[in-house]
Amino acid sequence: MKRIVVLVSGNGSNLQAIIDACQQGRLNGSSIAAVFSNKADAYGLERAREAGIPAHALEAAQFADREAFDRQLMLEIDAYAPDLVVLAGYMRILSPAFVSHYLQRMLNIHPSLLPKYPGLHTHRQAMANGDEEHGTSVHFVTEELDGGPVILQAKVPIFADDTEDEVVARVQHQEHAIYPLVISWFINGRLTMRDGAAWMDGAQLPPEGHAFE
Ligand code: GAR
Repeated sequence: MKRIVVLVSGNGSNLQAIIDACQQGRLNGSSIAAVFSNKADAYGLERAREAGIPAHALEAAQFADREAFDRQLMLEIDAYAPDLVVLAGYMRILSPAFVSHYLQRMLNIHPSLLPKYPGLHTHRQAMANGDEEHGTSVHFVTEELDGGPVILQAKVPIFADDTEDEVVARVQHQEHAIYPLVISWFINGRLTMRDGAAWMDGAQLPPEGHAFE
């Protein structure tokens, strides 16, 4: 049975999908050991408490710099001895020390078909560029922002009369399916990161990750 720590900054709908997967036995008996946020009012913390999961907030203003914040966060995370750290809408740049401490055991979900649109406002950019296709990517976290090896992507269409909210909702619907799935692969030992690449069942995944329709 593996232990997962989840980091959130906001609504936590991806966290909820992972909580549901745990409760429905889709993560092989694994549990979420704790949820952390850099925002005390993140609704994700409420979702955690509701599910009986320890929920903690650290406020950046109380630390001298990013390194000090991340050092404290690492200390608190490590008290739960996680096998896997999951970033689920955690909107804070990570220090190099934090990334290297959890290298090969930290996942992120990003709302674009990486390497397209790293950073913020991905939906808006895809729409402004007239893209007919958008999506989301789960990847291992490396020092490069939204740049680690992709494990799985899910695509959604963009229709001419879509609002940004509609595109966000369409993408998030896919996120809630693929994130628990990727976590289950990691938990079951099928998925690893080595030599800077993602590997699934002993084979190196291509740049766009595992094919998923
Ligand atoms: C998700 O759509 C996730 O892809 C995105 O934040 C949202 C969080 O939603 N993450 C990033 O943009 C990271 N670069 P949630 O709080 O409802 O899970």
